[in-house]
Amino acid sequence: MRVAIIGTGYVGLVSGACFADFGHTVTCVDKDAVKIEKLKDGVMPIYEPGLDALVASNVKEERLFFTTDAREAIKDADAVFIAVGTPSRRGDGHADLSYVYGAAEEIAGLMDGFTVVVTKSTVPVGTGDEVEEIIRKARPEAEFAVVSNPEFLREGAAIKDFKIPDRVVVGTEDARAREVMKELYRPLFLNETPILFTSRRTSELIKYAANAFLAVKITFINEMADLCEKVGANVQEVSRGIGLDGRIGAKFLNAGPGYGGSCFPKDTLALTKTANDYGSPVRIVDTVIDVNAARKKAMADKVIAAMGGDVTGKTIGVLGLAFKQNTDDMRDAPSLDILPALQAAGARVVAYDPEAMKEAAHLLKNIEFAGSAYAAVDGADAMVIITEWDQFRALDMGRIKTAMKGNVVVDLRNIYSPEDMAKRGFAYTSIGRPEEFSRQPGNMELT
Ligand SMILES: NC(=O)c1ccc[n+]([C@@H]2O[C@H](COP(=O)([O-])OP(=O)(O)OC[C@H]3O[C@@H](n4cnc5c(N)ncnc54)[C@H](O)[C@@H]3O)[C@@H](O)[C@H]2O)c1
Repeated sequence: MRVAIIGTGYVGLVSGACFADFGHTVTCVDKDAVKIEKLKDGVMPIYEPGLDALVASNVKEERLFFTTDAREAIKDADAVFIAVGTPSRRGDGHADLSYVYGAAEEIAGLMDGFTVVVTKSTVPVGTGDEVEEIIRKARPEAEFAVVSNPEFLREGAAIKDFKIPDRVVVGTEDARAREVMKELYRPLFLNETPILFTSRRTSELIKYAANAFLAVKITFINEMADLCEKVGANVQEVSRGIGLDGRIGAKFLNAGPGYGGSCFPKDTLALTKTANDYGSPVRIVDTVIDVNAARKKAMADKVIAAMGGDVTGKTIGVLGLAFKQNTDDMRDAPSLDILPALQAAGARVVAYDPEAMKEAAHLLKNIEFAGSAYAAVDGADAMVIITEWDQFRALDMGRIKTAMKGNVVVDLRNIYSPEDMAKRGFAYTSIGRPEEFSRQPGNMELT
């Protein structure tokens, strides 16, 4: 099939490369000429493991093309995907749909023959109706169908998530469009991936419901972690103890500094906005948004408390800036709350992230960037782990100890053992694992 993708960001680029790898002929379009030129030269605009090789092989096989000119891409396409951004609208938190509607207008002007217009961007319920209306108005005679096909990939594991998804959701009431979507995803049918056909509105809501549920789950375990600290329990054991219950499931139960990233913050906000507009508030999600925002702010206080309550003139070595490992995405990362608060309290901050320092440099002021984890903590009074990159999981603690001036370690991802760190002479603080209790005999073995 011939596919055009409008918007070559995380979702557009990964979807385009994967569809091409399935054997379809894909043209990725973006307005950003620099991005397209770089892609033509084989330079990825984002850090995503395996993406450069996947793009290179499909470009070489002439199944994947990049352009700023939507005309050729859309004219011959069986399916045109809209994968543009839907950020939070300033002021009210509603999803800003101007890019989606802009793309719809463009598609309307250029499509030729029966075309399936697929909204892959995360969009509020009813957006598909609006997209259909825009196209119908511009081209009353055109044959087309507007389909919702939300994307569930995770940054950092995007290719695997696209190629081996838990499910594919397709929202359409149009029989012809359904056949086109089936053909596009046929390679996944062969893997027995569940493909769920729903109405368009249901499909749009599924995406928000999924993200909101995951945000609830993370926030739940984060609050359990706070309670663990008060009552003397270990949150990792609580997670395991509840996660083994098949009704709960073990994933998304790692306590940490609060969720961030390009999706959960804006999607939870947009869902509550839609729910309020329809007079059916989702109060649990309202609360989750507030709790998470407060949590990100509280993390700086946790660091300051671990350093004795005053960080004036102290140096803090920070490991990890991206909102999670394996991405350079800094959107709504907890580090964006934590670092300025530490600076405002008088600390000097030296940070290292394997991939996100370039992005972070645009968003954080007066941070010194180091070339490695060890360089970041050189002469530091404290080391703070914010992102759980693999390379931070087995640091040479002897070398860290020698490099540091102080001995305070604040591990906001629980990647080290309190007992082990205490043995090594660190004053170690983590999330929901009060040190005196984790040392008690009889603690559950985590395997
Ligand atoms: N990033 C994720 O992990 C993820 C996961 C699932 C769903 N989503 C959703 O997918 C959508 C896209 O997210 P993203 O992170 O890929 O965004 P992004 O900001 O990385 O990329 C969007 C791209 O669209 C381009 N663009 C905007 N208008 C255009 C137009 N008219 N023509 C051509 N190009 C245009 C921009 O230049 C940009 O490169 C959002 O709705 C998001 O919520 C994202």
